[in-house]
Amino acid sequence: MAQHKIAVLVGSLRKESFNRKMAKALIKLSPDSLALEIVEIGELPLYNQDLDDNPPVSWVEFRQRIKKFDGVLFVTPEYNRSVPGVLKNAIDVGSRPYGKSAWDGKPGAVMSVSPGAMGGFGANHHLRQSMVFLNIPVMQQPEAYIGNATNLFDEKGDLTSDSTQEHAARFMQTFAAWVATNTPGGMQ
Ligand SMILES: Cc1cc2nc3c(=O)[nH]c(=O)nc-3n(C[C@H](O)[C@H](O)[C@H](O)COP(=O)(O)O)c2cc1C
Repeated sequence: MAQHKIAVLVGSLRKESFNRKMAKALIKLSPDSLALEIVEIGELPLYNQDLDDNPPVSWVEFRQRIKKFDGVLFVTPEYNRSVPGVLKNAIDVGSRPYGKSAWDGKPGAVMSVSPGAMGGFGANHHLRQSMVFLNIPVMQQPEAYIGNATNLFDEKGDLTSDSTQEHAARFMQTFAAWVATNTPGGMQ
């Protein structure tokens, strides 16, 4: 079966990150038509336009790696009602040099996870704003603002609630269909 390759970007570097746990849960719950892989972003040097002519090797490798994926899934916390700097940095690095963005046309989806009640709504929607400019067709429904994350996972990192698990599985099934429809070349 042909699989679509999906880069998973996690917007937290914390060892016990709820978002990383959620990313791993989503990978487990995803249908066979997707092959998901977490792409680490914590070691990317901060984007600096002065380096465009002589970019750090890690930027070049990151851009090349992202280009090989068919789509991208963002799983992120909210920092100060917006996107954490580490994730925004990775997005900026991937978007340059101008006219050669690694993100261009790749179907995407966003899930935000927070211990707070609003589920990272602000980060989720700020991310969507960048996606408009980056030409990432982003899945609209189901939305995924996952709140009260403190109680979501057991000690092994598995989801404890059936309803969250069902929502996460439905999210990934819909994303798989979204990727199939929006991959260049159309439905596959
Ligand atoms: C700098 C900073 C800003 C934060 N701002 C918000 C916020 O605006 N909204 C929110 O729901 N949680 C906020 N939090 C709490 C995070 O949601 C919480 O630390 C969460 O566990 C981070 O995700 P992670 O578990 O994947 O690392 C903030 C945390 C930090 C460190």
